[in-house]
Amino acid sequence: MTNEKAFSKAKDYISGGVNSPVRAFKSVKGSPVFIERAKDEFLYDIQGQKYIDFVLSWGPMILGHADKDVVNAVIKTARKGLSFGAPCTLETQLAKLILSKFSWLDKIRFCASGTEATMSAIRLARAYSKKDDIIKFEGCYHGHSDSLLVKAGSGATTFGTSSSDGVPNDFIKHTHLATYNDIHSVERCFAKSNQIGAVIIEPIAGNMGLVPAHLTFLVRLRDLCRANGAVLIFDEVMSGFRASLTGSYKFNKVKADIVTFGKVIGGGMNVAAFAGSDEIMSLISPQGGVYQAGTLNGNPVAMAAGIATLSKLYATPHIYEKLNDKAKAILKAIQNSAKKKGIAIQTAHRGSMFGFFFNENKIQNYADALKSDTKMYAKFHNQMLKRGVYLAPSQFETSFICTKMGKNSLEKVIEAIENSFKAL
Ligand SMILES: Cc1ncc(COP(=O)(O)O)c(C=O)c1O
Repeated sequence: MTNEKAFSKAKDYISGGVNSPVRAFKSVKGSPVFIERAKDEFLYDIQGQKYIDFVLSWGPMILGHADKDVVNAVIKTARKGLSFGAPCTLETQLAKLILSKFSWLDKIRFCASGTEATMSAIRLARAYSKKDDIIKFEGCYHGHSDSLLVKAGSGATTFGTSSSDGVPNDFIKHTHLATYNDIHSVERCFAKSNQIGAVIIEPIAGNMGLVPAHLTFLVRLRDLCRANGAVLIFDEVMSGFRASLTGSYKFNKVKADIVTFGKVIGGGMNVAAFAGSDEIMSLISPQGGVYQAGTLNGNPVAMAAGIATLSKLYATPHIYEKLNDKAKAILKAIQNSAKKKGIAIQTAHRGSMFGFFFNENKIQNYADALKSDTKMYAKFHNQMLKRGVYLAPSQFETSFICTKMGKNSLEKVIEAIENSFKAL
């Protein structure tokens, strides 16, 4: 079956043919590739075409696809039962592994998706601060819960307007929008409302393309939260164990009150989490009154995948530096090829994450990112796909590298970059 046929068949039964919108390739004006299997840095589609993968399931597969240690751990654990709905010791093992890298976080709670992690973190922060309003930043994505599905559209300090139909204004009237990397926009929010109990941010933003926060901005944000009695939440669902073993902390040494995790901590299975101090985390049920629960939370198979993934990362010295070197080599090839063609490009990288914008100016926030040439990105994406390189199907996503990305693949990617730019 061709990819086009598979998509058309999927549309007969699945709304829009996909189970997560960006997979539909709409913003690159293409048709999605249907994957039959994946191994190491490669995806194989149902037509037998092989691609070097820089999406990596949107981040989790840092060890590459079907890593043998992760797969063995999953199979071994699955043989003993898929889910108990009762505690198992694997949960404690994964909790200990994660917390060992974050000295200021005492306790963690697992859930099944990043959306749940941030939603629960917000609920917890509101309960702790006893205040209802929150600040989020334009262009940051924290999953699809109602109060976080708010982005640009109104001024930085005005109340948010929803990015989704079906979200009542009453739900989002407590969400204030600020501008990424602009501390004055945060000050304006605090000046406007004395009811702000939480600030949530991706400290390395990966959902408007890759835009790392400035060190001074995060330090000031930390101070502002403390001064105003607001809980600071770092959403590291993407950057946690991706940018470094301590996520954004390695780069700016700023400690958030609550940190959310996802993606890599589940090694490709449904695991996410949020963590904080004993004082904050003791408010969660059954100790406290903040409700959070889930049928499949902490299920043994998912825990086993997370333990195998993190254990392997911890055991491999300089893993993030090596991944970062590869990211830099790719970005250098993009810059060189773009320059030859007279095309303006902006780039960023953090550990195994990298991004590039078709844009003449530096990207500091969402408004800057939106000025990028999305049509050019779509053309470039198309050219790279033709040459067997699978990039994120949107200008506003981050690319990821896995540990299996070898010299051969890297050379092929660089060649594909050169030829794709020539063809633009
Ligand atoms: C920073 C961030 N937070 C939260 C989420 C939501 O996670 P999930 O898709 O697992 O619900 C994502 C997903 O990409 C994310 O990048």
